[in-house]
Amino acid sequence: MQKEIKRIALLTGGGDCPGLNATIRAVTKSAILNYGYDVIGYKFGYRGLYNNDFMSLTLNSVADLLPKGGTILFSSNKDNLFDYQVEENGQMIKKDVSDIAVQNMKKEGVDALVVIGGDGTLTSARDFSRKGVNIIGVPKTIDNDLGSTDTTFGFNTAIDIATEALDRLTTTAQSHHRIMILEVMGRNAGFIALESGIAGSADIILLPEIPYDINRIVDKINKRKQEGNLFTIIVVAEGAKAKDGKVIVSKIVADSPDPIRLGGVGNKLAADLENIIKDQEVRCTVLGHLQRGGNTCTFDRILSTRYGVAAVDLIKQGKFGTMVCLKGNEITYDNLENVIGNNKLVDKNGELVKIAKKIGVCFAD
Ligand code: F6P
Repeated sequence: MQKEIKRIALLTGGGDCPGLNATIRAVTKSAILNYGYDVIGYKFGYRGLYNNDFMSLTLNSVADLLPKGGTILFSSNKDNLFDYQVEENGQMIKKDVSDIAVQNMKKEGVDALVVIGGDGTLTSARDFSRKGVNIIGVPKTIDNDLGSTDTTFGFNTAIDIATEALDRLTTTAQSHHRIMILEVMGRNAGFIALESGIAGSADIILLPEIPYDINRIVDKINKRKQEGNLFTIIVVAEGAKAKDGKVIVSKIVADSPDPIRLGGVGNKLAADLENIIKDQEVRCTVLGHLQRGGNTCTFDRILSTRYGVAAVDLIKQGKFGTMVCLKGNEITYDNLENVIGNNKLVDKNGELVKIAKKIGVCFAD
């Protein structure tokens, strides 16, 4: 028989993402209003669990949170408690400190933990679930690359922002007859570039899943010129690479479990194109963290609310070791064991790539 749930905890891990606060609000409200659970939030993701650093979450503390980006619980993408940096005998070493986290939860009477995060954060959630902790995962990431769910929250806000950026770049491109490149995030997945590229009327979309040939890009620009279009809009995913090239790494964050930060392909492409095309200026804008900041879009406010309410219902039903998912328009769940290791990529033969090609978008393949 399942132990009666009295107190639940939440944590947010990985990069911040629009919809985190909306999920915290939904979990807290639903837990208190429907089941009378006491709710706490650990600060700075798993680090808070290790340090037993938490705050009480009440109806008052989550008021006004729905639209706000970021997370009131703070976040960290460096703290994997299964391989954690600690000082021992004057030396920094890495060790598994997950038992300390489990003891802290026991001490505070935490009966279930809602973990809101992407790939890295949910991998630890799966590992805590294997240790017997009552875990429910909620999928967040602007990259939309998590398995088992059609959509993660944050993604729709990111593509709205990238689409608006493309709209704004287009007016300058048209006025100055320029080639404008927008570099967007997404790690190794091209969902942000593909969907914002279609919505923002990009002429060329470059994805990690379809290595590009610069000659095809030049052909497209020249074809547009012959047709009287003296500007070109290119959206490039940070993980895109030339057919004969490599992904471009902007930074190595040494103490992060996933240390590689991508970025730089947009400026490289601009320089490469300017060597070939002499009669048009090429400019690159790197959208960067603007894609993750500010207010949460309507779609993500609703999705986060649905996910938060569903997470609490799964706790009530005792369906632990799972992650809430969106399949079609239905909220469902899957085992965390199926989620981890099954990251999604853009299907290069999928419907969206095909429709983009049919309306003349070039993928430079
Ligand atoms: O996973 C979300 C994401 O924004 C990626 O799109 C991007 O590559 C990465 O995080 C950037 O990480 P950081 O905020 O550590 O620079």
